[in-house]
Amino acid sequence: MERYIVKGGAPLVGEVGISGAKNAALPILAASILTDETVTIDNLPDVRDVNVLIDAIAELGANITRTGRHTVKINCSNITSICADNEYIKRMRASYYLLGSLLGKYKRAEVSIPGGCNLGTRAIDQHIKGFKLLGAKVGIDYGKIIAGAEELVGRHIFFDMVSVGATINIMLAATLAKGTTIMENVAKEPHIVDVANMLNSMGANIKGAGTDVIRIKGVEKLHGTEYSVIPDQIEAGTFMCAAAVTKGDILVKNVIPKHLEAITAKLYEIGCSVEEYDDAVRVIGLGKLNGTQIKTLVYPGFPTDMQPQMTVTLATAKGTSTVIESIFDNRFKYADELTRMGANIKVEGGNIAVVEGVETLKGAEVNALDLRAGAALVLAGLGADGYTIVDDIHYIQRGYEDFPQKLTKLGGNIAVVQNDRDIKKFKFKTA
Ligand code: EPZ
Repeated sequence: MERYIVKGGAPLVGEVGISGAKNAALPILAASILTDETVTIDNLPDVRDVNVLIDAIAELGANITRTGRHTVKINCSNITSICADNEYIKRMRASYYLLGSLLGKYKRAEVSIPGGCNLGTRAIDQHIKGFKLLGAKVGIDYGKIIAGAEELVGRHIFFDMVSVGATINIMLAATLAKGTTIMENVAKEPHIVDVANMLNSMGANIKGAGTDVIRIKGVEKLHGTEYSVIPDQIEAGTFMCAAAVTKGDILVKNVIPKHLEAITAKLYEIGCSVEEYDDAVRVIGLGKLNGTQIKTLVYPGFPTDMQPQMTVTLATAKGTSTVIESIFDNRFKYADELTRMGANIKVEGGNIAVVEGVETLKGAEVNALDLRAGAALVLAGLGADGYTIVDDIHYIQRGYEDFPQKLTKLGGNIAVVQNDRDIKKFKFKTA
């Protein structure tokens, strides 16, 4: 079983290039199903979830060629199946985007009930509500969501709660529906705008993505396109926190600073220096940081996917900090792992963490319990005294391209190890 071993203490210094956004790439790949013409997608992150979805779309009968590590050409004119339920699809949350695109184009879809990181209940009632309002019948049978419609007709949809997935899924299904769909109480994350921009580049008529109301005028058909995925806001934020945790100095390149504003503001507030450039931000971790209050919110608030990384940063900041998780009902499972490293963190009622800053964390053996918690534990190890071993790193490999390589290039001591012999070799090399 692959694990990361990390030796803490080295400040991370240098430049890092951010990859394409996983959470934009996944729906953009699914959107390629909506046309029979060829779609070229560039700046895809080479991460497990993206590669699994590419394989799943190929399994439906699509013709996919990888023309580079980060580029695919997809032609879905020969899709022969509307059923996606293989082993991997079951484990990935974003497989539900296949529902929106298959239903949108073929008026039928069968997709395994989505898996994904265990962050508490991850219902899909808003997705189902939207599909039904567009005219589809939706049922659950033998672990699959089955949706079908004679035709899809535009409707006025007011979501009961803001959902990134449901906003995107209904946008996918409504693009080829008859008439106009108005969606309210929608998510406004950068990846929502990216998906809408890509669909419009295929001839869709979508207005208002990134605002509270999205208007979609159904069109007859969509044509091919060439599209490049936006940079990953959360990967960028993770490296920004790495500079804070290790008291380093990192220029985070290939980013859209506007997407990082909530993260930049918080790092500045706790005492980091943050300089913004056109497509880069530079974060300098200046010594002892101050505690603060964090509340995760929908965009443009502080992103829930940065909550573990920020909590790790606050674990050695001065004073008492509180972190309120308002999006997911169980996203502090990693607190016990942090406690093993000497953090003083108490989770109240499942969604409030009270963090008393300690002098420093100590290396320990910990488990990556989900994608972002795993990345946060690596940051904790980089800032801790001694050696940390992070297990279950397959979670991290779902969403971070070349994570250990990028950290090593910044001066971090991290390696993938398979067994005790590898661990001994790493310790000897880094002693
Ligand atoms: C997307 O998940 C992201 N995943 C998540 O990133 C991210 O944390 C989340 O958006 C919020 O930004 C992908 O894009 C693949 P939601 P999603 O629908 O779509 C509840 C990562 O680390 N809800 O906005 O599942 C739900 O239970 C991952 O990259 C319903 O109740 O997020 C959750 O509590 C982790 N009913 C909250 O809303 C629904 O129908 C937010 O969910 C849908 C959601």
